Amino acid sequence: MISFEGRVLLMSGAAGGIGLATARVFAGAGASLALGDLDERRLAEMTAALNLPADRLLLARHDVTDPESSRDLVRQAQEKFGGIDIVVPNAGFYPTDPFESMSVTSWSRTLAVNLDGVFHLCQAALPALRPDAALVLVASMAAHYGSPAHAHYAAAKGGVLSLAKSLAKELAPGVRVNAVSPGLIDTPMVQPLMQARGPELLNATPLRRLGAPEEVANCIAFLASPLSSYVTGATLHVNGGLYIA
Ligand code: NAI
Repeated sequence: MISFEGRVLLMSGAAGGIGLATARVFAGAGASLALGDLDERRLAEMTAALNLPADRLLLARHDVTDPESSRDLVRQAQEKFGGIDIVVPNAGFYPTDPFESMSVTSWSRTLAVNLDGVFHLCQAALPALRPDAALVLVASMAAHYGSPAHAHYAAAKGGVLSLAKSLAKELAPGVRVNAVSPGLIDTPMVQPLMQARGPELLNATPLRRLGAPEEVANCIAFLASPLSSYVTGATLHVNGGLYIA
């Protein structure tokens, strides 16, 4: 049983499928939560969804593409909780865009959310980290496997994996840095892909189903917890066997 009693989680993209599931797992294990998302409406719904005492929950509009927005979220978390123990830069954006017609704007926006956003939040959080901190970056099977019509997204997630490995070396021994690489997880993000290629992809998945957001959340919790105290620079694949590294 993992306990995050007295620990503070800072997470972006918290109002999405994996974000909400992760918030629930950490809240259930006793953590206090500093949560940001661009979608203020869904963020506001999290108060009821999480049902936490006000002194354990901070919700803030946050745009990962803006470094000042990340600094502001960290400032608020530090003021409210006194520091940060776990950082999960989880915000993501998965547009479908064939490479031949991909615009520079689309390429830049996708990199800005999925890669630059991770840089901004992790760098902003560094001064607020307390001893035995853990960063858990959210990559994607696309980083290992490629993803047709999502070359920008796959390239960004490949960058996230390299960033995790570099930070694992640079921030040791005080901070552990690991990544999860989800495969097909049942959230709004994956719906267009499932509509286009669902049966083919499920047939190629040894466990023959989509993953649940909670199954990614549990892996994030493991990598953030003392149960993985000798693990850093690792990538945990959460994909039902669709890609076996
Ligand atoms: P989701 O679409 O449900 O959640 C993504 C969240 O990121 C949304 O709440 C959205 O408002 C937020 N967001 C988007 N742009 C933002 C910005 N500029 N600033 C702040 N927040 C922003 O997607 P899901 O599935 O929960 O994705 C979570 C993470 O998991 C992402 O990094 C995604 O790339 C990754 N992932 C998901 C997979 C899946 O099958 N669902 C597979 C592989 C990776």
